[in-house]
Amino acid sequence: MDSVYRIADTQAIYSPGLVLFKELIAANLSRMLDIAGGPDRLRPHVKTHKMREIVQMKLAAGITKFKCATIAEAEMVASCGARDVLIAYQMVGPNQRRLVQLIQRFPGSTIGALLDHPAPARSLSETAAAQNVRVPVWLDVDVGQHRTGIPVGDAAIALYQQIGSLPGLEAAGLHVYDGHNHQDRLADREAAVRDQFGAVREFADELKRRGCAVPRITCGGTPTFPVYAKIPNVELSPGTCILHDNGYGSRFPEMGFRPAAMLLTRVISRSASDRMCLDLGYKAVASDPKGDRVVIPDLPGAKLVLQNEEHLLVETPEAARFQPGDELLACPTHICPTCALHREAYVVEGGNLVGRWAVVARDRCISV
Ligand SMILES: Cc1ncc(COP(=O)(O)O)c(C=O)c1O
Repeated sequence: MDSVYRIADTQAIYSPGLVLFKELIAANLSRMLDIAGGPDRLRPHVKTHKMREIVQMKLAAGITKFKCATIAEAEMVASCGARDVLIAYQMVGPNQRRLVQLIQRFPGSTIGALLDHPAPARSLSETAAAQNVRVPVWLDVDVGQHRTGIPVGDAAIALYQQIGSLPGLEAAGLHVYDGHNHQDRLADREAAVRDQFGAVREFADELKRRGCAVPRITCGGTPTFPVYAKIPNVELSPGTCILHDNGYGSRFPEMGFRPAAMLLTRVISRSASDRMCLDLGYKAVASDPKGDRVVIPDLPGAKLVLQNEEHLLVETPEAARFQPGDELLACPTHICPTCALHREAYVVEGGNLVGRWAVVARDRCISV
């Protein structure tokens, strides 16, 4: 294991524990600033970490704009004093009322959301106007992932114009998330963005010709971050790369990010000479990616043979040198949902445990 992951004393770390390496977070943040050319174009997504302290590191680096997926994440960010918050989600049902309450609770922050359909546009307008609140709204543009959003075209133009004319709403720009662009080769991601983005630019120009302001276009996640960074006048919204993980790390090493979060696990049983069981079940590491959910750098070639809620059975010829109680660090394949499984993260700086940070926005509701 690389010496940057050394922890002098692990006795205060209850396993399975999420451990953050502060210098590596700082290094990833500085790499984000390098790729973006400074803090101004960045609107990083906070769903990866859901922690106030990391928002504060971003604010200290000069970042003023943030992206979130939930109202709780937006409240966490606004409570840190961030000026500009986008909830990249269409608010429906009672969440429309919550959004308006959040905006009222944090008058120092501009808090907006996405829309891709006229019906929630009308009801959000009514809810906001009844409270004398103006909600900045990004039109969610579908560029090929087909998860949410509306493709560019006449219906999208009509919706953007509707957003601009409805009381209580303000057309704030376009949201372009391309989660389907995670091709292994950077050149392939560049080609895919080139293919898709021309139509978005033309769409924005057409809106402007029709008299609509398009103040911003917010683009992408980590895999296409360096691609959009080369396109002028767009905001960049990567999330994962602040903590990074083995999923992206093994596929996009050229990006220069390093995993800054690990799971400290202990051997709980050695059931055979080539097998040992770790306290790293799927209640401690996200189960969403296909294939291995973690890699254990100190056990290269280990096979993960069974995972239950609190158990991870590993097959490795190295098993014989381990005793129950021995410790290992495991790198998650997908850090974002892994963070959400932990109430707190242990923070290591200079090789020492220096504190614990609450994963505050793992809860669906903080106060609003
Ligand atoms: C809408 C949106 N924007 C940005 C991101 C950040 O992407 P990544 O995790 O690849 O950094 C995500 C990730 O899920 C997302 O859903």
